[in-house]
Amino acid sequence: MEGTGIVRVSADVALDPDSAFAQVVDELVEAFARVGVRFSPGSEGSVVEGRTEVGRVLTWTSGRQFSIDWRPAPWDHDLRLQVELRTEPRDGGARVEVEVRGADSLVHADPVEGTGWVASAIVAPLLRTLLPSNLGDWLTDRAARRPSGPGARTMYTDPVYHRPNFRLLLDTLHPGPSDVVLEVGCGGGAFLQEVLARGVRAVGLDHSPEMVRLARANNQNAVGEGRLQVTETEASRLPVPDRTFTIAVSTGVFGFLPHPLDTLREMYRALAPGGRLAVFEGTKELVGTPACPEPMASRIHFFEDDELAGLAREAGFVAVEVRHPELFRYAQESGVPEEALDLFRGTVGALLLVGRRPDG
Ligand SMILES: C[S@@+](CC[C@H](N)C(=O)[O-])C[C@H]1O[C@@H](n2cnc3c(N)ncnc32)[C@H](O)[C@@H]1O
Repeated sequence: MEGTGIVRVSADVALDPDSAFAQVVDELVEAFARVGVRFSPGSEGSVVEGRTEVGRVLTWTSGRQFSIDWRPAPWDHDLRLQVELRTEPRDGGARVEVEVRGADSLVHADPVEGTGWVASAIVAPLLRTLLPSNLGDWLTDRAARRPSGPGARTMYTDPVYHRPNFRLLLDTLHPGPSDVVLEVGCGGGAFLQEVLARGVRAVGLDHSPEMVRLARANNQNAVGEGRLQVTETEASRLPVPDRTFTIAVSTGVFGFLPHPLDTLREMYRALAPGGRLAVFEGTKELVGTPACPEPMASRIHFFEDDELAGLAREAGFVAVEVRHPELFRYAQESGVPEEALDLFRGTVGALLLVGRRPDG
């Protein structure tokens, strides 16, 4: 590659080079998509921001290397970078190395400004990523607040520790073929799967694009039959019609919501008169247990009973109640491993909000 190297980052990971390459490409596609940029991998691949083609793949050797001709400045056609990513064997794992070259004009034309760009636009964000607040946010998003990555896809396909909550909700709501269910924060669609088995029609909503795709894939028959629609959205504005659903439900989501009242108002709007609401959450007693470790624990809002019931009433719901049911029996029924069953004893960890949209 020609030109002056301006960035060289490498990291040693505990995967073989082929797997590391595949995962890095997958994660880059997702990470770009989150900021509205389309990275199409492969030898004919490209990087497109809006309508602008920013990069075109020059070389692509699966499992090993790719390079991209990158134009970061449509207003300056002379400014071209070469971005190269390589994976190679290192100490039983792989070294992933990224190198950006060719920004001579950017860095050298004005030496002070060039150095400022390197420091503030490259080094500072790298170090900012390592601040406890950012690392804590990343770990929380990755696992639960906006799940992404292979671990989350496996976990939310069969969230065995959430299944007791699902059983409780099914036992509370008794959904049947005449019901139309709205689930806010549906994750990988595991609750949807259980509720669809009762013959309902359903809509699942989530703001994680990976979870939306997973929920569709895990319920592809219901999607194909037109019984299920899964849509990516923020929970404060739900893209669903008024007065349509007989049940609105959410589990393990409200503690993450910046505007829970807005979501309750939206669930109310979406419910038909007489429609039922059920929201399941953990309580602050779970903090520090395996159900709620740091850094997630300090990024969840744990509702007090009166607080959540008050929000539901403010949104318009009637017959509002907060219950603290024991989940032990549901945990036994839903296949939670024997050694973890004790986590589900007692009534302090679980909070169930129920309510109803008034008739008429
Ligand atoms: C802990 S997971 C629970 C998933 C599923 N309900 C379950 O119990 O397995 C929380 C889910 O809520 C979604 N979520 C969190 N905040 C959200 C928001 N503001 N808008 C939409 N979805 C949200 C996340 O993307 C994630 O899928």
